[in-house]
Amino acid sequence: MQFLTAHQIQEKFLKFFESKNHLIIKSHSLIPPKDDKSSLFVTSGMHSLKKLFIGQEKSKANRLCNVQKCLRTIDIDGIGDTYHNTFFFMLGNWSIGDYWKKEAIAFAWEFLTQELGLSKDNLYPTYFESDMPDVPTDIEMHKIWLNYLRPHQITGLGKEDNFWSAGPTGPCGPSSEIYYDLGKNKDWCGKCEKPGCSKCGRFLEIWNCAVCMQYNRLENGDLEPLPFTSIDAGAGLERITSVIQGKDNNYDTDLFRPIMDEIAHLTGKNEQENLNSFRIIADHIRAACFLIADGIRPGNLDREYVLRRVLRKLIRKQSLLEAKDDFLTKLADKVIGLYEEWWPEINGNKQMVIDVISAEQEIFAKALERGIKEFHKTVEKIKKSDHPHRNYLTGEEAFYLYETYGIPREIIEEIGLEIGFMSVPTLDFQNAVASHQQKSRESMAGKFKGGLSEEGDVWKKTQFHTTAHLMLEAMRRVLGSHVQQKGQNITDERIRFDFSHPDKLTSIEIEKIENLVNEQIKKDLPVSIAEMSVEEAKKQGAIGVFEDRYGDKIKVYSIGDFSKEICGGPHVERAGQIKGTFKILKEESSSKGVRRVKAIFKSRQFVDT
Ligand code: SER
Repeated sequence: MQFLTAHQIQEKFLKFFESKNHLIIKSHSLIPPKDDKSSLFVTSGMHSLKKLFIGQEKSKANRLCNVQKCLRTIDIDGIGDTYHNTFFFMLGNWSIGDYWKKEAIAFAWEFLTQELGLSKDNLYPTYFESDMPDVPTDIEMHKIWLNYLRPHQITGLGKEDNFWSAGPTGPCGPSSEIYYDLGKNKDWCGKCEKPGCSKCGRFLEIWNCAVCMQYNRLENGDLEPLPFTSIDAGAGLERITSVIQGKDNNYDTDLFRPIMDEIAHLTGKNEQENLNSFRIIADHIRAACFLIADGIRPGNLDREYVLRRVLRKLIRKQSLLEAKDDFLTKLADKVIGLYEEWWPEINGNKQMVIDVISAEQEIFAKALERGIKEFHKTVEKIKKSDHPHRNYLTGEEAFYLYETYGIPREIIEEIGLEIGFMSVPTLDFQNAVASHQQKSRESMAGKFKGGLSEEGDVWKKTQFHTTAHLMLEAMRRVLGSHVQQKGQNITDERIRFDFSHPDKLTSIEIEKIENLVNEQIKKDLPVSIAEMSVEEAKKQGAIGVFEDRYGDKIKVYSIGDFSKEICGGPHVERAGQIKGTFKILKEESSSKGVRRVKAIFKSRQFVDT
């Protein structure tokens, strides 16, 4: 086995499959195709190819391969072990209605044993052994593997390991995976001799080398045969690299080693003494750089919230390691330097990456400090209460820290664990969220003091609220400056908005207003707030109701330099956090000289991974 860099492995992979008549395609962005609502991120190479498998779109070629950027949130809380990463690169090859099992296995075998020089004694493939009523055991796959290896190296596993689908519906099928035997190492359970052991670190899955796409899972759960059969295969570059480079974890490979060294250099801390933190930082900073470069910004919902969680975890780690303020931005610089040659988009967005990380740090670093103090105060209160030995936070207490200081729940738990507190029960926390949501539904009191909320309803209303500002300004630009707000009612599904205007709106006017609003959302304009006197607000051209407020300090919200309006909030932080396409559904008369519109968002996406 010769030493290869990760980059060389990736190049070898592409060249190999190109020589087998595969067309090399570009990596898709981390954001899934628009009409795919099955997950927040691209989680594997086939994600952007789903329509090809079900015959809804025609492929440019019937053999494809690439290196795909992927992000999986499923393991995010477990990062720090040897071989899981939130963000990773997947080496993928596909047959779209072309070759089938035999060829897929032949390719994988040739690549591993001849191109990479892995010993066949260490390769342990699996096939699907049925535990599903509607899919039989893949006997054909078992037979194919017997051409290459002795029976004891081949394992049949069930649905959990060997039936693959990209989501609850869509193309799917039984698969074959190749595991690498790392030997009777320190992570071996001491008993098992083959893959499939849940306690064991001996067998490392390195390649899902043949998902045999033959079914389409329908909404009702039924499996329907696909019009043609295909192969989907993917290997994690990080894991293959660790095997080739003889490392027992991903962080010692050249994909991470320079980042780990830079963490030590910038913090002056010892890696072994802080191994878990170092690994989390290395994993998360790489994920953050690629997420930001693909246009994602930290926010309060969906994929924006995932980025926020990742960044806030980094900020917490920075504070624990007592690193300087510029630690994360310097580290991001290192990551960009390491990857820019292969991934030009990350270099092209370098300044953006640095700016977004700094901005989140600005919002959260201080809030975190205050939140930790508040946590300790709560602990003191508990000690003086009737239950002084209580070693957990109630859902309400945890929710207060989360809502007020913007501390993600898992960080609250982490802080708690450090002082011997137990984790916050999920149900209690959810109940606290629900009860808060209930209250804010009545009073609209849901202000995001720490700039963070996972409460769907309130957050949706907030997005509409900012949109109403954009709409009013758009109306004034399209219809004239006589337009003033006369009333407004916002639910989590729509805006109802009354405004002064003598005539019915034409469809052209409506379209112009919609376009103007959507353009501002697309521009991701920043939303800022300033307190000033009424006189000053007027001087600055702010719109809104001024009556009876002279002498008072009032709040003025600006959306870029597009809109400036007197308002009490709450609002989103950036227009880009508004999800969906703005659309005016209905326009009618409200009273004399007052018109009413109802507006919604099309293609909203509130899906969890
Ligand atoms: N889609 C399959 C997986 O992610 C093969 O790439 O494992």
